[in-house]
Amino acid sequence: MRRVIVTDYAVQAEGIAKRYGDKYALDAFDLNVRQGTVHGLLGPNGAGKTTAVRILSTLLRLDGGHARVAGFDVARQPHQVRERIGLTGQYAAVDEVLTGRQNLEMFGRLFHLGGRRARLRAQELLERFDLTDAADRGAGKYSGGMRRRLDLAASMILAPEVLFLDEPTTGLDPRSRNEVWESVRALVADGTTVLLTTQYMEEADRLASHITVIDQGRAIADDTPDGLKTTVGGDLIEVVAMEVSDLRLVAKVVARVSDTEPEIIESERRVHAPVVDRVAALTEVARILQEESIAVEDIGLRRPSLDDVFLQLTGHRTIAEEAA
Ligand SMILES: Nc1ncnc2c1ncn2[C@@H]1O[C@H](COP(=O)(O)OP(=O)(O)OP(=O)(O)O)[C@@H](O)[C@H]1O
Ligand SMILES: [Mg+2]
Repeated sequence: MRRVIVTDYAVQAEGIAKRYGDKYALDAFDLNVRQGTVHGLLGPNGAGKTTAVRILSTLLRLDGGHARVAGFDVARQPHQVRERIGLTGQYAAVDEVLTGRQNLEMFGRLFHLGGRRARLRAQELLERFDLTDAADRGAGKYSGGMRRRLDLAASMILAPEVLFLDEPTTGLDPRSRNEVWESVRALVADGTTVLLTTQYMEEADRLASHITVIDQGRAIADDTPDGLKTTVGGDLIEVVAMEVSDLRLVAKVVARVSDTEPEIIESERRVHAPVVDRVAALTEVARILQEESIAVEDIGLRRPSLDDVFLQLTGHRTIAEEAA
């Protein structure tokens, strides 16, 4: 009899370690992804996102800890895991010689769909990803965004139980990015669980119901987007002064609408601070600046970036990988 383990989690990782030489790419990494949700894995370059995805999708062996995906152990039951997952890598894997349509039909046949169903599924996915016009052109001539959409379509052929998306929208224009987000939402509505890695706070915020922040191979925060934003302090007000000499004055004004000491970035003549009541804060700051005749180049609100999240969680900004 097959033992079925009932769990709310589609992905469970506990204390995962992965070492390259004497350097840990993942170190005591934990992750719990609830079934039927989009879970964001948010982190800067070199944090360990791709390593985590490759371990969970059985492409890489772990050096410590254990992980289950769709109820199966990635180390001991890799075949069962593979039957239930889809993966889109950070770098597109489509065949450049074939057309978009041929690529999708080929993947369909690889998954034993049979000729007719493979053709139907290819057509459906071409429509969903807005690739019908380019369907019969060689994929080698596609733009980066089109290739990424084709790659995504290929990973969605079977509507897998768990789908791993490694930076699915990096390098895409805003319109393509929105299309990808829509497709991910549609998949999840059909019951697929998605683990999505991203370097964009905004993307995690838009798509994920839960976010794990990863830094240097470890989970440093695990929360809902709202919880994380509360940690960061919600949106930021940002003022760009005309004159460097006005920066201190501007910071004083901004301080009146924020509970956090404003940050001054002198090289950009920029001052910013988190705010809770966005519109009231913006109105207030604009009013005082005008009253005191302080000239500004720009004033506005923006959502926290990954860098802002990091600054709050770790006390330092994201560090780009050395020797890249
Ligand atoms: N094959 C490898 N050999 C040696 N070191 C590796 C290898 N693959 C990854 N690393 C190292 O492991 C760490 C984590 O890398 P990983 O690719 O998982 O990061 P990432 O979060 O996906 O980054 P990015 O946002 O740049 O894709 C990095 O320090 C990286 O240099
Ligand atoms: Mg990566």
